[in-house]
Amino acid sequence: MTNLQPEPWRVKVVEPIRRIGRVEREARLREAGYNVFGIASEDIYIDLLTDSGTSAMSDSQWAGLMRGDESYAGGRNYFHFEETVREIFGFPYVIPTHQGRVAENLLFSTVLKPGDVVPNNTHFDTTRANVEVNGGTAIDLVVAEGKQASGRYPFKGNMDLVQLEACLAANPGRVPLVMLTLTNNSGGGQPVSLENVRGTREVCRRHGVPLLIDACRFAENAWFIREREAGQGSRPIRDIVREIFDLSDGCTMSAKKDGLANIGGFLALRDEAWVERLKNMLILIEGFPTYGGLAGRDLEAIALGLREVLDEDYLAFRVGQVRAFGEMLVAAGVPCVEPIGGHAVYIDGRAFAPHLPPERYPAESLTIALYQEGGIRAVEIGGVMFGKPDPERPGRETLPGLDLVRLAVPRRVYTNTHLEFVAAVVIRLHQEPAKLRGVRIVRQAPVLRHFTARFELI
Ligand code: F0G
Repeated sequence: MTNLQPEPWRVKVVEPIRRIGRVEREARLREAGYNVFGIASEDIYIDLLTDSGTSAMSDSQWAGLMRGDESYAGGRNYFHFEETVREIFGFPYVIPTHQGRVAENLLFSTVLKPGDVVPNNTHFDTTRANVEVNGGTAIDLVVAEGKQASGRYPFKGNMDLVQLEACLAANPGRVPLVMLTLTNNSGGGQPVSLENVRGTREVCRRHGVPLLIDACRFAENAWFIREREAGQGSRPIRDIVREIFDLSDGCTMSAKKDGLANIGGFLALRDEAWVERLKNMLILIEGFPTYGGLAGRDLEAIALGLREVLDEDYLAFRVGQVRAFGEMLVAAGVPCVEPIGGHAVYIDGRAFAPHLPPERYPAESLTIALYQEGGIRAVEIGGVMFGKPDPERPGRETLPGLDLVRLAVPRRVYTNTHLEFVAAVVIRLHQEPAKLRGVRIVRQAPVLRHFTARFELI
């Protein structure tokens, strides 16, 4: 691998992994109906299903677990957690939740009215669902560059400010808040520039609408700003992070990503009136406001993780590792979403397997082949996840614009050598695309079918 940086940690505890034989892998696939969600993780060699909740904790986080204070109210870990969130993000009010989507649930069930509209660069699935279930409409306004797989525009996560202005002008009194997702997971893990955060803030200010940030991957986004944005190259990461959040009114966070924890999340805000309403709901669905559905020890792990994720050696390695992994694929001609994003590499399934028509789900076919060939688990983000029956053409589906395979890289878990192995498997398959067979769905659930659908190879 070129441009490889050594890991900024050494290994203290190991978790054995094994690659079962090809005959067994084929049996596991058949039993799972060719859906990799149905395979036990013990039978996976390299698991790139998600970067969420899969981080390795540091020795200091593990030590922090022993300092867990499991008092029902006012436990010491809550105060450490609150102080850390205040210090890094600058918000006075901090509400712990057991993961990110509960922060979204609390927020939208409290501040949204039926008929409201919520603009975002791109809503993550759970964010969209929490807007819709409360009677709102979720609108994605990412810039045009962010909708294309190719093209190396540096901030493909940016909000289209002209469209945002038009949306706010067209919906007076019906937009309770605007959101920006950092980085833009559903758009390839692409970052938002600081200039775009400032611009979004300005449009929101003119219309008197609060701006909230989906902060899941805030540290990775800040690293991209420092690397790519004019005038930011020598700023400390903490300053960039603080400026981003100073431009906003609050954030939702899944600590399972840039919190370097295995569970947890929070909602942080400036507005006291909102907080009072939210806390009542919090007690109803999560628990007392000083634990919010978490154990005291989890709050401690998050407080420590939020500081560790801002370590600049860590971030240089993290973003560099994902990039070097993606660039290995790009150099071998594998069609990827470019530039490589912060937490994952996304492969363009239709370009990878041009012999398969879109309705034979080429990206799903690649996830099957990755397991069959290498024991690798990835996730399809394409026709299976987003396809819908086409009312005009009975028996056919409308398919999304992109049919992607996401290889998400867990934090501090896999070494460069593991990723070199994955790259070699992908490149070999790319040279023999005939190994990829089309897929037919034989059983599916009415909603979120990708988790449980069963397939047949054609
Ligand atoms: N927002 C974004 C941008 C996310 O990527 C996720 C989760 C959430 C919110 C919800 O957080 O899982 O803690 O409830 N993304 C995971 C993924 C599941 O695999 O990308 P959660």
